[in-house]
Amino acid sequence: MNNNSLLEKTIQFVKETLQDAEGGHDWFHIERVFNTSRMLLQHESADALTVQLAALLHDIADPKFHQGDESIGPKMARGFLESEGVDEKTIEHVVKIIQLMSFKNSLDGDGKKFTSKELEIVQDADRLDAMGAIGIARAFNYGGFKNRALYDPSIPPNPNMTKEEYKASKAPTINHFYEKLLLLKEGMNTETGKKMAQERHQFMLDYLGQFFRETGLSL
Ligand code: ADP
Ligand code: NI
Repeated sequence: MNNNSLLEKTIQFVKETLQDAEGGHDWFHIERVFNTSRMLLQHESADALTVQLAALLHDIADPKFHQGDESIGPKMARGFLESEGVDEKTIEHVVKIIQLMSFKNSLDGDGKKFTSKELEIVQDADRLDAMGAIGIARAFNYGGFKNRALYDPSIPPNPNMTKEEYKASKAPTINHFYEKLLLLKEGMNTETGKKMAQERHQFMLDYLGQFFRETGLSL
């Protein structure tokens, strides 16, 4: 099968699988990460097929909605790619990228042992989607899903909190900016990704400025 029809089939598979996904991880998130990855590919040299397959399959099964099981996504991706007769070397690389990509893994150091240009590109594209206007929309969407307050001056942001403490704290959504979203800029891998991150980072800062002016609070 040629690469274009493989990518077409992958797009169909992902669209069907994510039919009922919540707003932050639906097909349109995948489409944005896919398009940003293709854009980054124009400036970085990497294997285009691996990058595009990994972008399309990276959130095929979010552990948050599978009882925390992080192995389901990589397994589903492998099953699909095997059924399409993709060569083993490409499958292994795509699966590795999916395993190591989430920012949980990379920011707290787990995925350090393996890296590749292909991983760096898809990871940058995924991080960019958590920043800027879309990133703001996704954060409040997630907070609404978790029934979190928009802001609460009695719970100040604490970037040093562990994931468990964070979950138990019922932290309001605005804290997520200080605990994660404003830190993403520093974790960008590629030169093009870094440039794109600057603009989205600044947009979040402007947004937070306006947010606190409107609430009459300051942080
Ligand atoms: P990934 O895209 O790697 O699956 P996550 O599942 O951690 O990343 O996050 C998906 C989206 O939900 C991101 O835009 C992220 O900012 C947002 N999000 C995750 N955790 C929170 C939270 N506690 N509060 C607000 N938004 C969150
Ligand atoms: Ni993602």
